[in-house]
Amino acid sequence: MTASPSRSGVFQAASDERLEAFGESISFDHRLFRQDVRGSIAHARMLCQQGMLSEEEFQVIEAGLREIEQEIADGKMAFCNELEDIHMHIESALIERLGDVGRKLHTARSRNDQVNTDFRLWVREALDRVDSLLENLQLAFLSRCERDMNVILPAYTHLQRAQPVLAPHYWLAYAEKFQRDRERVADCRKRVNVCGLGSAACAGTTLPIDREMTAKELEFEAVSANSIDVSSDRDFVIESAFVLSLIAGHLSGWAEEWILWSTVEFNFIELPHQFCTGSSIMPQKVNPDTLELTRGKSARVIGNLQTLMVLVKGLPLAYNRDLQEDKPPLFDSFDTIEACLELAIPIVAESELQRESIASRLEEGYLDATTLMEYLIQTGIPQRTAHHLVGKLVGMAQQRRVRLADLTEEQLKDAHQDLDLSVREVLGVEKAVSAYQSYGSSNPEEVRSQVNRWNKRLQ
Ligand code: ARG
Repeated sequence: MTASPSRSGVFQAASDERLEAFGESISFDHRLFRQDVRGSIAHARMLCQQGMLSEEEFQVIEAGLREIEQEIADGKMAFCNELEDIHMHIESALIERLGDVGRKLHTARSRNDQVNTDFRLWVREALDRVDSLLENLQLAFLSRCERDMNVILPAYTHLQRAQPVLAPHYWLAYAEKFQRDRERVADCRKRVNVCGLGSAACAGTTLPIDREMTAKELEFEAVSANSIDVSSDRDFVIESAFVLSLIAGHLSGWAEEWILWSTVEFNFIELPHQFCTGSSIMPQKVNPDTLELTRGKSARVIGNLQTLMVLVKGLPLAYNRDLQEDKPPLFDSFDTIEACLELAIPIVAESELQRESIASRLEEGYLDATTLMEYLIQTGIPQRTAHHLVGKLVGMAQQRRVRLADLTEEQLKDAHQDLDLSVREVLGVEKAVSAYQSYGSSNPEEVRSQVNRWNKRLQ
């Protein structure tokens, strides 16, 4: 049995095995081993510079830590509950190798600032991975824009046909959402990227440490200013979980949309078969399971945020053992989002719009009604009057089962004496799309320039 380095001479009994099984975090925090070694080497280098370790002692500690890192990477270290977490496993392995020199590493450090530092290093890397996946997802949407440039789709509100838009207008809507996610990632990263090492347990230390040096070694942007705060702070964990929750929400909405679009009822898109599954009984089925799971897994990510919020609620300063529970939810959120993004990228790039099927039903649903109303406004008819009038025309067209463009001069005049066939200038989805004027609309030139802007931004 390995003695825990954290049980001092004050203890009069060995720890109960049930406590050890209950309190271990090694089963999940072993994922921090590289960050722990990196943090320890930076700490030891600082102790050496400050005269608390000799040059020789620093060198054997550094070499020992690198060997231990390799041993863990190779799966050769046996983990045990007695040593609780990755921090004590690594320290014990060092002491086993180096004896008293190893016993000096924890000078001017507590596991409280150590955990905080290791986790920040891990989260910082994970945020960078998510950012790059988000960029690839944006590029996948962008790659569709040229391909689908002239395809007109119905835009929906309340999932009822609303107005015609160009397909790239849809794709760039997602590029915008994921851009905001990337901005949130970058902003969150700033608060993650603060070094708490040297705060020790909660009050700082009487030993002559150099906190700037360790922060610089570990490429942190700032040094935390209050040791009590660091010891208790998990804002960076919760904020990351929130950023991931919003990404999960965006992915889930997109997944739902494309699930609908891939149905026989819509028949807008064909999903790549390598990301679909079949049915064990119904031979015709091609099911969008990847998208359904993306939608479903968003629940876990949002649930993890809730778990973390409740975890810290009501904790007094400073470190409390509750905080050990912060890792499984955040690891899970990152794992889930990364897995969803890895699959979303090829699905977005490789799905095919069902152009004929889309085009064949574009004249259903009176997508050009709003454009007609705006045309009438430009002839001097007040908006409310024009709105009512076009509603009447839609009613007439519905009754006759025709398009607005099929209404005769006589029928138009019936509705309002000033109307004539000139309204056809903006009727039909193509003309309706070309008639858009405003910045950010689906006007073809506007969409083209937005595509150019995104191409510049991302490539
Ligand atoms: N395993 C613990 C965690 O991850 C290490 C910190 C323990 N600190 C303490 N004062 N008991 O939070």
